[in-house]
Amino acid sequence: MRTPFIVGNWKMNLTLEEVDSFLDQITNKLPDSNQVECAIAASPIFLETLTKYCKNSPLKSSAENCFYKDKGAYTGEVSPYALSEMGVNYVMLGHSERRKYFNETNKTVNKKLKAVLQNHMIPIICCDETMTKQKTDDHMDWVVNPVAESLNGVSSKDAQNVVIGYEPSWAIGTGKSASVSETQEACCLIRKTIAELYDEKVASKVRILYGGSVNDKNVQELMQQKDVDGVLAGTASLKPKEFLKIVNYSK
Ligand code: G3H
Repeated sequence: MRTPFIVGNWKMNLTLEEVDSFLDQITNKLPDSNQVECAIAASPIFLETLTKYCKNSPLKSSAENCFYKDKGAYTGEVSPYALSEMGVNYVMLGHSERRKYFNETNKTVNKKLKAVLQNHMIPIICCDETMTKQKTDDHMDWVVNPVAESLNGVSSKDAQNVVIGYEPSWAIGTGKSASVSETQEACCLIRKTIAELYDEKVASKVRILYGGSVNDKNVQELMQQKDVDGVLAGTASLKPKEFLKIVNYSK
């Protein structure tokens, strides 16, 4: 059985004061991580505060990006080694905003993914149907390229721990989420792709999340879908009460 996994992605929002207040308000209100695992993805500026908090909480921490080298003359980049040293658990890679504004490609995601795994953290790869030019007659074939290219050269042992997020860019921050059937169809296709690349056993272990205008009203229905193991919430994760509702409705 896959444990439900809820990730709040703060993106480039909140102040340090708001971060402290958020964490204060969720204290002692999160379920046990065997029931629902939850994480917050935050900017590197807040990761020290977040990882310290996580030591005494079921909450896990995630970076929103990192570089593929551990150290060197790469001004402005974030070292996966330093993230790991800080105690960060997850690293999001290939979010559509990274692809749109910072030219992230499946190839760079693949390099970063290997660096994240080498540093004993878990990658959360984001993908959607706008990420391949090679669309075929089957409108859902888009998923094969991002997933296969991101996981190129990754062993079964490592692949089974990777988390994949289906995040249709047209649903991100728009208030209009994908329908439950679209979501299930995409997540099922991602799982089938993993089974083809590896095998059924690996596919049955990989957690697949949906992201795009998730809120406390639509999360339950999304979570009932067979291949949806969790959600990535952006806007709704900025408010502690709504984040807690999303987590608790996912049990
Ligand atoms: O990673 C999270 C997604 O970008 C979703 O953002 O919930 O504001 O649509 P949103």
